[in-house]
Amino acid sequence: MTQTIAVIRGDGIGPEIMDATLHVLDQLNLGLSYDFVDAGLVAYEKHGELLPAATLAAISKHRIALKSPLTTPVGEGFSSINVELRKRFDLYANVRPAISFPNTKSRYEAIDLITVRENTEGAYIGEGQSLSADGETALLTQKITRKGSERIVRYAFDLARKVGRKKVTIVHKANILKSTSGLFLKVAREVAAQYPDIQCNEMIVDNTCMQLVMKPEQFDVIVTTNLFGDIISDLCAGLVGGLGLAPGANIGTDAAIFEAVHGSAPDIAGKGIANPCALLLGAGQMLDHLGKVDEARRLRNAIVQTLQAKDNLTPDLGGQGTTMSFAAAIASRLGA
Ligand code: NAI
Ligand code: MG
Repeated sequence: MTQTIAVIRGDGIGPEIMDATLHVLDQLNLGLSYDFVDAGLVAYEKHGELLPAATLAAISKHRIALKSPLTTPVGEGFSSINVELRKRFDLYANVRPAISFPNTKSRYEAIDLITVRENTEGAYIGEGQSLSADGETALLTQKITRKGSERIVRYAFDLARKVGRKKVTIVHKANILKSTSGLFLKVAREVAAQYPDIQCNEMIVDNTCMQLVMKPEQFDVIVTTNLFGDIISDLCAGLVGGLGLAPGANIGTDAAIFEAVHGSAPDIAGKGIANPCALLLGAGQMLDHLGKVDEARRLRNAIVQTLQAKDNLTPDLGGQGTTMSFAAAIASRLGA
């Protein structure tokens, strides 16, 4: 059966890196068909809405979307489209691998870790934010639930099992944030006890940041709450050479959206020099999710070999290639 996916070409460099990504995917003969839908600035200009109903319907129907970066217009009344998508489809797990690749600007060589970030609660619920009338005092409400904590920690342990990872590190700040982080840690310990085959340790978030910089090789899977996961996963992207190589998956029970972590890069849009690797790696996560693990492996290997050979690398990686010539170099290494 042909699997159809919703494809959002996005804003800025979005269309360029999506065309490159689909060019590579097409060479894998995946039997995928694409339903192109709009979101972001381009949707606003065409349809007067950042997130048209037809786009939401396509994601609901196909349950899988591959998404380029979107530009959220600056100004009142525009809330982040990405946050909106996560809410709409209850995409509770944000899965961001950080893997060392050859010939990047990374200072490290053997990093291979996955951050699993809770994507729907914590400090990002968008409620309970207030500023006093005199503008002197601001308050923020954080929400942690047993259900939300349980499902994200379970996701991390199940993922570890599925992809043969050995250890899960629970990252928290329960010593200070006793109610919220405390509940997360308590539930995480209960879930961890159900996975005796996976090693588990706990680490306070500030120490985790130091440990990640000093000795990143000690980490395998990290599971944490929303804000800590947001910060830590960017830190991890920095450990392996930056945004051009950092993909992310947003996964829920009924839908999943795969993307690059970076934004629409307006400074280089239209020049044909954006690095397509982050979106390609996001597409690799999508193939894993669809059970096409062999094709996902071939795709990642082709990226590694192309980086190794310094063949048509884009300027952010120190080369002189273009988005399309880099993609073509990757496509030529997909093997059988
Ligand atoms: P950005 O990630 O777009 O750019 C930061 C820097 O990294 C720029 O110098 C850019 O040229 C470079 N860069 C990013 N991706 C690259 C690639 N694939 N190849 C080569 N260089 C690359 O972040 P910025 O400038 O803060 O945001 C620009 C727009 O993107 C904003 O409108 C923002 O709202 C949106 N954005 C969207 C995201 C999404 O849809 N997932 C995530 C982050 C930002
Ligand atoms: Mg972030």
